[in-house]
Amino acid sequence: MLNVLVTYRNVPGAGLVERLRERFHVTVNPVEGQMARDQLLGAVGEADGMVAMLTDRVDALLLDAAPRLKVVANYAVGFNNVDVAAATARGVMVTNTPDVVTDATADLAWAILMGIARNVVVVDRFTRSGQWTEWRPEAFIAADITGATLGIVGLGRIGQAVAKRAAGFDMRVLYADIQQAPREVELRSGASFVPLDTLLRESDFVTIHVPLLEATRHLIDARALSLMKPTAYLVNAARGPIVDERALVHALQAGTIAGAALDVYEDEPRLAEGLAELDNVILIPHLGANSRRTRDHMAAMTVDNIVAALSGAAPPNLVNPEVLPRKRPLSAA
Ligand code: GLV
Ligand code: GLV
Repeated sequence: MLNVLVTYRNVPGAGLVERLRERFHVTVNPVEGQMARDQLLGAVGEADGMVAMLTDRVDALLLDAAPRLKVVANYAVGFNNVDVAAATARGVMVTNTPDVVTDATADLAWAILMGIARNVVVVDRFTRSGQWTEWRPEAFIAADITGATLGIVGLGRIGQAVAKRAAGFDMRVLYADIQQAPREVELRSGASFVPLDTLLRESDFVTIHVPLLEATRHLIDARALSLMKPTAYLVNAARGPIVDERALVHALQAGTIAGAALDVYEDEPRLAEGLAELDNVILIPHLGANSRRTRDHMAAMTVDNIVAALSGAAPPNLVNPEVLPRKRPLSAA
């Protein structure tokens, strides 16, 4: 029987471990929380397949400790935690969970965008703390969402889902990307392709939906923030290192921009110094894909990827198809 390692004990989503146990010998992290690095390096030694969390660093060192490994099934759409080139070089397939996280992530981006624009967290604190003594029309006057300009950095699946929701708010939608989207995508999204600098200058809300790659690391740095309007808000529900978080703290302290709503951070779960002291931020602990139906779909997709890979088929969500001609044979132990 082939061995599958699940690095997290309580992976949410119906029956992930049970479904894997129908076909494989499954080892699950014996303790709550993340699997410690040294434990992981030991546990992968026997694994033919691995269900990985976005917090597991799957690098060359780990892959070298896993001579039987055939597939890394990442329980996430993002796979920046996996050194895909190193996996491909060793004949290891890598899969992710695209599509099923799109709506939940777009919803969360909208939730925190609206939350920061209308001061929801600050005014909740105010209300519950007993400071609300009389209704005042001049209190907490907030930004307008309807009719504002939304700048989407990255018009992929999630960026498009964010754009679709913007139509309900009669927004002008701009997008920047490495290349212009097909005409039908632009029409469906109601989004206009502009250079990133133009997007930063003209948007009232800038929301990030690119993957983390070398080319997108610190894409939003001090210079980019300085281009934004002092009344504009930054939303990041993609990956933390796309934003220079220290530069963001400075920009928020200095009033370079009005506020930020973040679901992701450069060095999770740590926050850049000063970030938590600010009132003009909403800080969410990386929950973009965290809705019931999404977690179920992610679990099912992860199992399907492992089952296909370990039955000799091409997994449905293979991120390195170039590995197929050279993938490790199932018989290799
Ligand atoms: C969540 O961050 C994901 O990549 O699925
Ligand atoms: C606000 O509550 C209004 O009635 O205008």
